[in-house]
Amino acid sequence: MNEKRALMVCLGNICRSPLAEGIIDYHATRLGYPLKLDSCGTSAWHVGEPPDSRAVAVAKQNGIDIAHYRARQFHQHDFDRFDIIFAMDHANKRDLLNMAKNQEQRDKVHMVLEFGGQEAPADVPDPYYGNEADFRKVFDLLNNTAPVVLEQLFK
Ligand code: 4NP
Repeated sequence: MNEKRALMVCLGNICRSPLAEGIIDYHATRLGYPLKLDSCGTSAWHVGEPPDSRAVAVAKQNGIDIAHYRARQFHQHDFDRFDIIFAMDHANKRDLLNMAKNQEQRDKVHMVLEFGGQEAPADVPDPYYGNEADFRKVFDLLNNTAPVVLEQLFK
């Protein structure tokens, strides 16, 4: 199986995309898929910061350590450095497509929940202004979709 590189993208890179990175990395290791992961934000608002403490906590409760991650902003070069780029919501997808320079780059952009079989893939809801239950919901959405994403990536 050839190694693949995937980038998870949200707005701040402190809530959803670090959870996506940690959760999909956990399942890739568990299932033996050769996947290299990273995450970033479309904004520069939280560059250099660790993930939100509520994201760190829900990951830790499930045996996944994301405390050492640090936020960074998406860069145009990421289109060349990754095979596939997953947006957490439609605004992230739109922002990524606006930065793409050609069709090859546009084709790399997908919604993370699009492999669940829905015609219009759902957003991973932004939990930043929410509570612990909102972070739990994000965790469950990503944890349920992770094996499906991996199966599609390596089929
Ligand atoms: P994320 O959540 O995009 O899932 O990391 C957010 C984090 C910070 C902000 C918004 C969303 N913010 O407005 O600072």
